[in-house]
Amino acid sequence: MREQSRNEKIKEKLGRLKKERQAVILAHNYQLPEVQEVADFCGDSLELSRIAARTQARIIVFCGVHFMAQTASILSPEKRVLMPDINSGCPMAEMLSAGQLRRLKNKYPEAVVVAYVNTTAEVKAEADICCTSSNAVEVVSSLRNKEEVIFVPDKYLADFVSQKTKRKLIIWEGFCPAHIKILAEDLEREKRLHPNAAVVLHPECMPEAIALSDAVHSTSNMCRYVKTNSAREFIVGTEVGIIYRLKRDNPDKEFYPAAPGAICPDMKRITVEKILHSLEELKFEIKVPARIRNQAKKAIDRMLTI
Ligand code: 13P
Ligand code: SF4
Repeated sequence: MREQSRNEKIKEKLGRLKKERQAVILAHNYQLPEVQEVADFCGDSLELSRIAARTQARIIVFCGVHFMAQTASILSPEKRVLMPDINSGCPMAEMLSAGQLRRLKNKYPEAVVVAYVNTTAEVKAEADICCTSSNAVEVVSSLRNKEEVIFVPDKYLADFVSQKTKRKLIIWEGFCPAHIKILAEDLEREKRLHPNAAVVLHPECMPEAIALSDAVHSTSNMCRYVKTNSAREFIVGTEVGIIYRLKRDNPDKEFYPAAPGAICPDMKRITVEKILHSLEELKFEIKVPARIRNQAKKAIDRMLTI
């Protein structure tokens, strides 16, 4: 009860400050419930990038991880992009440096480079085109058949895309530490417990888990899938933060996390207090140096045309 009134007070202050500062709050679908509650938009990586590119707001408070705020800043350099917690990073994005990608490119000089959006701006600057979990298959399908393709950094997303497009990809050995916690045996157990449930997974999951799913989607496409699906119960294989949004949008349906331990601690660093502090003090601003930004923007823009 006390927490509820604390959140209400912060919400009120945020409402005032947002107007004064012409700010918008964007939150990824894995954010804490209290953060999703105060956000103007919740979404997946692609949706949030598109909103960041289009918004009329002068300030974007980005509640997500570092690469997402960087992408917003690359798309809208004239806006102030703030992260309420500067230490929210994506371990997968840190698994590949620009130098490592340059060395891979030297090994395959003819290859087109597709970079998952979960990469640093420096890595995007080395890529030809970006993709997200919702358009990775389309992005790779848009490339000419004869072209060699380097796909970084997620080996499991690469595997999923490769299966879907029937193309052999040159991969990097990156992965998401949260999604690899979702095991085939977890799905087998949940399916036994909930035989009528539909199984929906994120493409960052391992192939053995993917093989046991009914559908594979980005986080926002999971929300659409659940809304339009006639099933009443769902086994959900992704970071557990999404369950809050699924339940809120579909109060008459039941959701079971495939693995309750699939948690991304970086996504949980942001709180409503930190958002308030961020808007009051205009902290912590994310800026990308112009040379990197211009190069990275080409790869993001090419993705956005698809
Ligand atoms: P989505 O773009 O599907 O929301 O995924 C982002 C992410 O980091 C998944 O771990
Ligand atoms: Fe990165 Fe995985 Fe966290 Fe997504 S869930 S931000 S891929 S570590």
